[in-house]
Amino acid sequence: MQGSIEAILDGVWQPDREHLTGCHEEIIRLTRLIQELSTLTNLEWENMALNKTDFDLGELLQITVEQFKAAAHKKGITITLNLIPSPINADYDRLKQVFINLLSNAIKYTDQGTITISVEPSALPSAKNRRISIADTGIGISPEDLPHIFERLYRTDKSRNRNTGGTGIGLAIAAAIVSAHNGTIKAESGSGGTTFQLEL
Ligand SMILES: Nc1ncnc2c1ncn2[C@@H]1O[C@H](COP(=O)(O)OP(=O)(O)OP(=O)(O)O)[C@@H](O)[C@H]1O
Ligand SMILES: [Mg+2]
Repeated sequence: MQGSIEAILDGVWQPDREHLTGCHEEIIRLTRLIQELSTLTNLEWENMALNKTDFDLGELLQITVEQFKAAAHKKGITITLNLIPSPINADYDRLKQVFINLLSNAIKYTDQGTITISVEPSALPSAKNRRISIADTGIGISPEDLPHIFERLYRTDKSRNRNTGGTGIGLAIAAAIVSAHNGTIKAESGSGGTTFQLEL
């Protein structure tokens, strides 16, 4: 945007519709980025006031998946749910945000195939915990990128090249929410796709 405006001020470019449209799109992108960074800052620094209620995690997953059915179908992706009854005391809206971020990634970075969402009892000693996994058959994440994906604004070259239009903040937000619930989130990836695993 800076380069474009300088070119217009220098008379190199005409302030015509094409060049102004480009600047306008950049302003929209920057505004979205600032909003997301501000959300993330609040999440991390406000000690995240959680609004906890009792609900079933499986139902939340089902409702969230519904929102993505059309987008998945368009790309030839099947979403499968393997659920067990999972009562939880947590912040419904915030956890929904986590699953929205993970599912939108799974769809964005998968061309066709399946997304499998499973809830099972955790292998960890705490009996209350449950393990949620979201596995896709997408482009995968290289071992060099994998340690960085939860950092804010980090995007792999693969996804930049695909021009998928993200800002690299979705996973940082997801990680902040999970950690506010004293949970963990991690990713494994290979040529067959990526699996995100949460302990909650
Ligand atoms: N399921 C996935 N498969 C392959 N790569 C992924 C997947 N999820 C995340 N990534 C990689 O991790 C990066 C960070 O993900 P994140 O959700 O934080 O950002 P984004 O999707 O690029 O943008 P945003 O979520 O802010 O719109 C992505 O840019 C992508 O390179
Ligand atoms: Mg994302």
